[in-house]
Order: sequence, then structure tokens, then C-alpha cells
Amino acid sequence: MTDERTQVVIIGAGPAGLLLSHLLHLAGITSVVLEDRDRTHIEQRVRAGVLEHGTTEILTQTGVADRLHREGLVHEGIELRFDGAGHRIPMTELTGRHITVYGQQEVVKDLLARRLADGGDVRFEVAQVQVHDVGTAEPSVTYLSEGVRHRVVGDVVAGCDGFHGVSRAAAGDTLRHLHRTYPFAWLGVLVHAEPRTRELIYAAHENGFALYSMRSPEVTRLYLQVGADERVDSWPQDRIWAELAVRFSLDGEPWDPGRGEIFDIAITPMRSFVTEPMQRGRLLLAGDAAHIVPPTGAKGMNLAVHDALLMSRAIEHWYRTGEETLVNSYTADALARVWRAQHFSWWMTSMLHRFPGDDLFQHRLQTAQLANVTASRAYATALAENYVG
Ligand code: FAD
Ligand code: PHB
Repeated sequence: MTDERTQVVIIGAGPAGLLLSHLLHLAGITSVVLEDRDRTHIEQRVRAGVLEHGTTEILTQTGVADRLHREGLVHEGIELRFDGAGHRIPMTELTGRHITVYGQQEVVKDLLARRLADGGDVRFEVAQVQVHDVGTAEPSVTYLSEGVRHRVVGDVVAGCDGFHGVSRAAAGDTLRHLHRTYPFAWLGVLVHAEPRTRELIYAAHENGFALYSMRSPEVTRLYLQVGADERVDSWPQDRIWAELAVRFSLDGEPWDPGRGEIFDIAITPMRSFVTEPMQRGRLLLAGDAAHIVPPTGAKGMNLAVHDALLMSRAIEHWYRTGEETLVNSYTADALARVWRAQHFSWWMTSMLHRFPGDDLFQHRLQTAQLANVTASRAYATALAENYVG
């Protein structure tokens, strides 16, 4: 077995792990990033697309947003569509801030390129990752690479390995897991088509929810609420297009979101999940390893970025002063935002989706709520404040 030392061992090269490694580097702190997939996989993985104002600021201030500013799409509003009519929430007018539409895999590419240019140590295709001794001052991580077992000892282990990673379990039963599974899923497609509108459309229809988003001037991103157990096979392309047109209806007429070649299709379950606390001893968790939100609020990646920022500040403060105050308050500092995002994501999800057993009465209640949100400046501002972050 090989034996090495670094200051922070980071598990996972998603947005949380890569940004943490970058921020620590800027503070003069060394890290090793261990990722179980290969580079192509993490650079191609299709996921989030909405960056909060604050996320763009963090990436800008730390010098990894040049391409984001060139290619990202600035959005100053979103549309809520219900009862066959569209209602715009003018986010920038209400809050002074905007969101940027830029694929998560592009953020990952930019962060990774910068880490490698700065001499960062990112190791791909590591297997059998295990976390050890988090209750001591010398926590470590072992893994297998090309048949050889390796051990990296650090002062801190950062678990940034997403919902299905291994680090959360390494904290043992001292963590409490709070969760809620929604009785539906999202079918998401990427389409080679020019966006038909400039802004995202969140549509609440009696048949269920639909979302119109985009990635670039040539690619749209569309989602449909589907049953929790449905498979992609039961959604041939004609059925997808027909259902989208119905759910996005305007003035009683089907509204076609612009057809084109569907080049990616996947179904994502909808769940909420929070780990409390987000740390144990010298193991700190960030991003999806510690919490999941349903995507309706577009918060997941933004929370991961915010956790990485808080964690890097806490670790930096600790190295600089020898005081553990910010490390000890990491959970409380992170969870305040996590629960705000959980509430917002739950609220958006409940207001926009059809739940099993919902009748027309329930649909009318949801529509009445949406009418309130779009008619009242106070409601609309609350939505916009939460959405732009
Ligand atoms: P991840 O991105 O999951 O990264 C974890 C990394 O750890 C991965 O690279 C993984 O391969 C690696 N890993 C896992 N296990 C191990 C192991 N044992 N050892 C080593 N490495 C390991 N969020 C938004 O903010 N806005 C949106 O619009 C949005 N839309 C979404 C749409 C969809 C369809 C989905 C699925 C998610 C969406 N999200 C959105 C959520 C967002 O994608 C996640 O919250 C985000 O990826 C979290 O980043 P992370 O770095 O914590 O975790
Ligand atoms: C996306 O573009 O992938 C997206 C946008 C908004 C959401 C979720 C996903 O709420």
C-alpha cells in the first residue's frame, strides 16, 4: 500500500469537490481529489442548468467564470403558465439580480481545467474508496487504483461524493437522515432545437407539471412530470411531444415547444433529503452527500457551491488561527440555507405538480395559489428572491 499526506482529502469531483479544491488552493491549502468515474463521464453528465446570482458571483470572484460570462444565458424573469395563460415573474425588476443558464457539466469542465492548470491533484477511476479514523486528528481515505491500494492521510476529509457516495455512511449512526420521497419523477430530454422563448416556463396542468428550459441558442431542455415507477421505454418521442404540447397549452390551443432531435433522455426521481449534522469529527459533508432537493426550485448545485464556500472558509480560518469555531459551526451555517432551499423547493413542487389522487378541486386550489403569486407583488417578490438566490 502506498502512503501519502495532504491537508484535505476530498472525495468526489462534482461541483462541490472541485470548487472546494479550487478555493482551498487559492488559500494556499493542499488537497487531493478522489473521483470514482473517468474524466469524460463527469464532463458529460447532464444535470442542472440554473446558476443563482450568488453562484455566478463566487465563480467570478475566484476566476473561473470567463466562459460562463461568454456562453451563459442571463435570464431576468421566468414564466409561470397555468389555466392556459402565461404570467411572467420579472425577477430582475423585483430583486435587482438575475440567474444564468449554464450547464452543470460546463461548470465542472471549467473548474477541472483550472485545477489541472494550477497543478491540482485530481485522481480519476479510483475504486473501493473507504474513509477511516474520522474521530482522530489523522483521518484517512484508502482506495484501489490499477490493482494497487493507496492511502491518503489528511487533517480533514471532505465528503463531496453526492447522494450515492460512501462518505455519509462513514459518519456512522451519529447522523440523522430526514427525507421525503415524492410520488412522481421527472423525465428530462435534451433537444437540438432553437429555444422558442427567451425564458424558462414552469407549467402546471391538470395532466401534471412540465418545464421548458434551455442550454444554448441551439439546445433546449424539457421536463415532464411522470409516474415514480415509469421507464423511458414507455415514453416514445411522439408521446413526449404530444404531452409537452398539451401541458404547455396557451388559450386552449396546444403549444409546441419546438421539435428537434432528442439526443439525451433520462428519468430522475424526486426526493428531499437532509443529513443532520453535516459533519462528524474530521469528516465534513458538502452538496448532495448531505442533502437533496427536488429540482423544481433549481437549488441543488447552488447549495453544493455554497457548502464548498462555507467549508473552505472554515478550514482556512482553522489553519490560519488554530481556532475551530467555523469548523464547529459549519453544519449550522450550511443548514440555515439548506432548509430555506428545502422549503422553497417543496413549495414550488407542491404548487406545480399533480399528486396521485388529486381531483379538480385540488387543481383549482393550486391554480388559485398561482394566481395569487403572479398577481401580488409581495408574493412574486418572495418567489423571485428565493429563486435568484
Ligand atoms: P455530484 O455532482 O453528484 O458529484 C459527486 C461526485 O462524486 C461525482 O462526480 C461522483 O461520480 C463522485 N462519487 C460518487 N461516489 C464516489 C465514491 N465512492 N468515490 C469517489 N467519488 C465518488 N441543481 C440546481 O442547482 N439547478 C438545477 O437546475 C438542477 N437541475 C437538476 C436536474 C436534474 C435532472 C438533476 C438530476 C439534478 C439537478 N440539480 C439541479 C441538482 C444538482 O445536479 C446536484 O445538486 C449537484 O450535482 C450536486 O453537486 P455535488 O458536487 O454535491 O454532487
Ligand atoms: C434545467 O435547465 O435543467 C432546469 C431548470 C430549472 C429547474 C430545474 C432544471 O428548476
